[in-house]
Amino acid sequence: MKKLLALLLVMTMVLSIGITFAGAETVGAGKKVGIAMPTQSSERWINDGANMKAQLEALGYEVILQYAEDDVQMQVSQIENLTAQQVDCIVIAAVDSGALTGVEAQAKEAGIPIVAYDRLLMDTDAVSYYASFDNEGVGRAIGEYIETAKDLANAAEGTSYTIEFFMGSPDDNNAVLLHQGVMKVLQPYLDNGVLVCKTGRTSFDDTCILRWSQETAQQWAENYLASFYADEDLDIACSAFDGFAYGIRSALEAAGYTSENWPLITGQDAELMAVKNIISGQQTMSIYKDTRLLASKCVTMVNAVINGTEPEINDTETYNNNVITVPSYLCTPVAVDLSNYEELIIGGEYYTPEQLGQ
Ligand code: GAL
Repeated sequence: MKKLLALLLVMTMVLSIGITFAGAETVGAGKKVGIAMPTQSSERWINDGANMKAQLEALGYEVILQYAEDDVQMQVSQIENLTAQQVDCIVIAAVDSGALTGVEAQAKEAGIPIVAYDRLLMDTDAVSYYASFDNEGVGRAIGEYIETAKDLANAAEGTSYTIEFFMGSPDDNNAVLLHQGVMKVLQPYLDNGVLVCKTGRTSFDDTCILRWSQETAQQWAENYLASFYADEDLDIACSAFDGFAYGIRSALEAAGYTSENWPLITGQDAELMAVKNIISGQQTMSIYKDTRLLASKCVTMVNAVINGTEPEINDTETYNNNVITVPSYLCTPVAVDLSNYEELIIGGEYYTPEQLGQ
């Protein structure tokens, strides 16, 4: 009798767990989502893909996750392929935001909705929603960090700091907005001479780095240090990406910089390596963009286009892609440095102390 009761209890538990899971899983049951990510060469996109996949699978969706390794043509073929497989939605973080119009139109014709992830898809009416961080806000946060750290507003007569800029890819709308945000804060100090850019390269056209290449950032930093900073140290490297900060670090080390004259170096993404470098002093700050949060906002958009629900939107004006203004959800970027990484990064369970070598 006891055995029978125990068996009944176990059976009830199994059944109720099954029902609970089935409840969560039904939203996406029988539906396929394709995710086209730009590259695995930077850690952030690996995390973005993994988070999206896990969150969608928890809702019962089947997920096809693809990376294009920064190859535009490869991404075009991957999206063509996803369309041929008749997925129910395609999420795209573009390698080149303007190079996908043909395949986006094909998807639209096949009745497949598209959600833009992190990078806006340009020149198309085939995109339903956009999930990102406030990209101009990222630039402003970097500029404000420099402004505060060097107390630029109260610089004494005759005080100046040297600065060089390493901005993002010209085919990524985020990079354009980031540069605008940086310059909103720093342009006045370039104008009044508190900031001195010895190369003279401050415009977006002069400072953008194709495909966010770490190698190019390193080469530029090597050239700048050799040609313009032989007699005077570089005080600030205004870098738009953690990957650039790694390249700049190598160039500085090769040029003989030490902790005595190490410049302020900014970054973006709070990659694991960047946070480690912040702790050891080789990078000053980064922008914390919680990829779990971004993925969760994107998932509400995928649900919306597939199941006709209302996604969370907080911007309907900013992101015009030259054809339409795309309803967006923008997450808030936060500056992270030595003073707050424990609270933000460890407290927020983004990385564990063990991952950070502690
Ligand atoms: C941008 C993104 C940044 C950074 C960069 C390089 O589009 O906004 O956070 O990841 O790409 O991957």
